[in-house]
Amino acid sequence: MCGIIGYTGHRTALSILLSGLARLEYRGYDSAGVALLENGRLCIRKQAGKLAGLRQKLEGESYVGTTGIGHTRWATHGRPTDLNAHPHIDCGGRFAVVHNGIIENYLSLREWLISEGHVFKSETDTEVLPHLFEHFYNGDMLETVLKAIKKIDGSYAMVVLSATEPGRLVAARQDSPLIVGLGEGENFFASDIPAILPYTRFTYILADGEVADITAERAAVFNRSGQPVQKPVFEVKWEAAQAEKNGFAHFMLKEIHEQPRSLKDTLSGRLPACGSGVMLKEIAMSAEELKRIQKIFITACGTAYHAGLVGKYVIERLARIPVEVDIASEFRYRHPIIDPHTLVIVISQSGETADSLAALREARRQGAPVIAITNVVDSSIAREADHVLYTWAGPEIAVASTKAYTAQLVVLYLLALHLANIRGKLAEKESAELIGELKKLSDKARVILGDCRAVESFAQTHAQCEDAFFIGRGLDYAVALEGSLKLKEISYIHAEAYAAGELKHGTLALIVEGVPVITLATQQNLFEKTLSNIKEVKARDATVFALAMDGLREIEKAADRVLYIPPTHALLAPVLSVIPLQLLAYHMAVARGCDVDQPRNLAKSVTVE
Ligand code: AGP
Repeated sequence: MCGIIGYTGHRTALSILLSGLARLEYRGYDSAGVALLENGRLCIRKQAGKLAGLRQKLEGESYVGTTGIGHTRWATHGRPTDLNAHPHIDCGGRFAVVHNGIIENYLSLREWLISEGHVFKSETDTEVLPHLFEHFYNGDMLETVLKAIKKIDGSYAMVVLSATEPGRLVAARQDSPLIVGLGEGENFFASDIPAILPYTRFTYILADGEVADITAERAAVFNRSGQPVQKPVFEVKWEAAQAEKNGFAHFMLKEIHEQPRSLKDTLSGRLPACGSGVMLKEIAMSAEELKRIQKIFITACGTAYHAGLVGKYVIERLARIPVEVDIASEFRYRHPIIDPHTLVIVISQSGETADSLAALREARRQGAPVIAITNVVDSSIAREADHVLYTWAGPEIAVASTKAYTAQLVVLYLLALHLANIRGKLAEKESAELIGELKKLSDKARVILGDCRAVESFAQTHAQCEDAFFIGRGLDYAVALEGSLKLKEISYIHAEAYAAGELKHGTLALIVEGVPVITLATQQNLFEKTLSNIKEVKARDATVFALAMDGLREIEKAADRVLYIPPTHALLAPVLSVIPLQLLAYHMAVARGCDVDQPRNLAKSVTVE
């Protein structure tokens, strides 16, 4: 997820670009850059690091151009370096482009363009765009963009500035947000509303497939065939402070609702159009090396650790490799038995958690290959691992991890499938079925997010409870642990998770009248036993909120409330069942007046041991 801005009008562009980028930094902040049209020439100023560094660099310089584009980057393809920062330009220096999204077929486009004589400078997928425009340019930027986007697979919000057409910007949108800001004698492009709110509240919200063409005096929108589109003007009612959260009250709620997008982005380019092979080219281990693995350790902290528990279950089930999951702060002190056939997987959203980094270093000291699963390109853990599988969830600002967790899960599913397929442990049919279901997760997550009333109502009713319990069996137990952590870390309610079958061995003594027991019952093969656990706590007058797959109606007689998640493959259920738990924690915390995005005593990235 990156921040994009474009301006053309009667004012000096630079100050508008920089202040707009500052309001978009929450979308990405590992590098920043601008392109300005100065006396008919493109002037590019960009560098790795935060926007403040770029602003400082530009302080002593003066620019008078009234047309320009800007970008803050959240790296996906290519490390955060000066060269990889946006904007990117073509060989002739006539087209400057900023882009948010993932060009899935960039490698084949890059090869073709190189064969046509184009010279590339960066490692990014984005850089194919200015060279495509250079290839297709026929004197009209709009026609050029319409031609170029027909060659592109993937997601993009892009804006192009051409030295040959002063005062004009053209943009295109597919699966990444982009708006047009409508001013008086000036017009804007932006990834998000905050960037333009100080100048105008009137916008066009571009839809997928649309192309927009602006000058200081006009803003026109076209479909991908080049036909004009009559866009309704959307007037922004939010205040600037709300706009960074896209109208949501907190970053956590915004990030929970971003999961359909982050799931799709994380799977992007890694699943076949049909068939059963997953594409994990980031793992430079040969099939032979992967076949020789006899043991896997997964090590992480907090939410990432809970993702690892799901990973254990899925890798053992699909690839039939023994997996141990360790809390990272425990891993290196228990003398893990690592031999040449051991693989270590380190999961970390931030890529900077000291405990997880220390565990990684211990694994490497003992000679194990390390795969990192992280959300931050070029983070410490990414840099020190042998292989990196990135979650493409975009910046996660709220301390409570949500979209990163579900993105970690889908990466673990891909890895499990990769290992299973290479080791011949999975029938083609089941592999294809799982891949088919993985592709539907984004839409199914959207269905859950489309109706949160049951969760909100339960949260309001029980927000003042002192204790809460989360129970489940198998994969449901792993998700119960995550639901419990979510609730306790932002609402400060004492929440605990238990394997449902374990309750009767002690914890049942704590079940008293009215205590909320959130029960996950998505696993068909364990449903009857979980149902009996619901009855067990109901016999002690607990209040049970159950989560089940659609079609298990008998649970309604046993539980006080039942929320059905859209049916999916049992192994994939955690990606969906965790979402209501995230929402439950959020709404209970809000009802208790807690600081949802920055809960007490906690930090987003724990860089101390
Ligand atoms: C999760 O909601 C918490 N914020 C915390 O447990 C977090 O998951 C843990 O600190 C690990 O962080 P990481 O994924 O960045 O390594």
